[in-house]
Amino acid sequence: DDETPTIAVHPTRKVSQINPNIYAGFTEHMGRCIYGGIYDPGNPLSDENGFRKDVVDALKELNIPTVRYPGGNFCATYHWLDGVGPKDQRPSRPELAWLGTETNQFGTDEFMKWCETVGTEPYLCFNFGTGTLDEALAWVEYCNGTGNTYYANMRRKNGREEPYKVKYWALGNEVWGPWQVEQMTKEAYAHKALQWAKALKLLDPSLVLILCGQDGTASWDYYTLKQCLVPAHSALSTSAVPLIDMHSIHMYTSSNEHLPNATAPLAAERAIEITSALIDLARVENKVPPSQPRPTICFDEWNVWDPIRAEGSLGAEESYTLSDALAVAIWLNVFIRKSRDVGMACIAQTVNVISPLMTTKEGIIKQTTWWPLYLFSRFMRGWTVSAHVSCGVYEGETAPGWLRSAMDTPWLDVSASIGEDGFVSLVVVNIHEKRGFETKMEGVRGSVDVYTVTGEGVQSNNMKGQEEVSIRESKWDGGDHYEFPKHSMTLMRWKAE
Ligand code: AHR
Repeated sequence: DDETPTIAVHPTRKVSQINPNIYAGFTEHMGRCIYGGIYDPGNPLSDENGFRKDVVDALKELNIPTVRYPGGNFCATYHWLDGVGPKDQRPSRPELAWLGTETNQFGTDEFMKWCETVGTEPYLCFNFGTGTLDEALAWVEYCNGTGNTYYANMRRKNGREEPYKVKYWALGNEVWGPWQVEQMTKEAYAHKALQWAKALKLLDPSLVLILCGQDGTASWDYYTLKQCLVPAHSALSTSAVPLIDMHSIHMYTSSNEHLPNATAPLAAERAIEITSALIDLARVENKVPPSQPRPTICFDEWNVWDPIRAEGSLGAEESYTLSDALAVAIWLNVFIRKSRDVGMACIAQTVNVISPLMTTKEGIIKQTTWWPLYLFSRFMRGWTVSAHVSCGVYEGETAPGWLRSAMDTPWLDVSASIGEDGFVSLVVVNIHEKRGFETKMEGVRGSVDVYTVTGEGVQSNNMKGQEEVSIRESKWDGGDHYEFPKHSMTLMRWKAE
């Protein structure tokens, strides 16, 4: 533990391209995410569409490429037709995921308009509970149809001539969960997912279809991949069109103690490795030709979340600490290190519900976890490059432990990238509560911009009326040693030679 740590960055060793979609978001009809979050008609802070302008502006700063919608668990009883057409004719319905009433005042066209306002792409999730394949096909036709057909014309009648060109579609959400309205066995799900995928790809081969996985390590994941990663359907125009394009996995981490809390996201790294191996295995076993693109992982729900400690309705209004911000920084380090395998990652969620961004009637609050997300999205783009850390390890409890057995947990968690502009960015998360680490730096050159996220203590929190955690900017001359302060995230940025 007393040895001087070393961090070595190799900007010329590109590991893989970073998909911008790892900075995707998620908005569900849950709690105050849609109603009172992104949509708040009548509030002076909202525009003529009822969209909160302060929320839109904040999300523009985050530069979110894609947003998942309308759930989550909400999807399992959602009928999209309820949410289109004249607002005064839309039905209110009992909502069975969160046991409220869905007024349907915000639906497909509102979401599409909101995405255009924010400058992001939509990702929609089909109803695999009470929904039918006909309904799913109709939704795709409504969004993407260009011909003189019934649902494409319905969209035109509702005021939108051009197709929305929605690319990303999920084949259900957490359908394995006992909390779902219609929980399914893996056998029943795989059968239905394959059937739907064939029909959907016949309607529109350009769709990116996302299979519903569990945490990537379950027998559900292996079985559904084995059944669904099959050679392309013969009726499809080209054998390069796979039925399934991505496999979705979900994980939430948390602990009441700082170190298990901050290190828990490392379990996701192991889950990504296992999922990736299962994808390869299924393809080999099914003799999928190598010319058929290999599915990537869609980590479409991730975050720090403990529904017990969270306040507000549904245990969803998390109040985040500095410890949580460091956990989010490690989550994002994981996605950078695993950029080869992760095609999309959606923080769950984008506003008010388990979110870095909160609204009140009077404005917004950026939680502690906003700042790592902001720095990553701004700078960690382009390619992952090789970075090595050698330092002491934390040997205590982690959560969830079952995926951690084979891995070290260094005090300094590291990832690095190089952008199109030739700038290298290095993120170092020091999880230690009491110790800064004077670190030998290799491969860092010239004049370095430094962004540090930290606060007084690991319990610092921005929800108590003050911004206790934010970014401090400084310069460093790129010498041999740098001290990473206790409980902090540091992003360094310099021009490659
Ligand atoms: O993000 C909150 C909920 O968590 C989602 O609706 C569900 O998919 C998950 O269990």
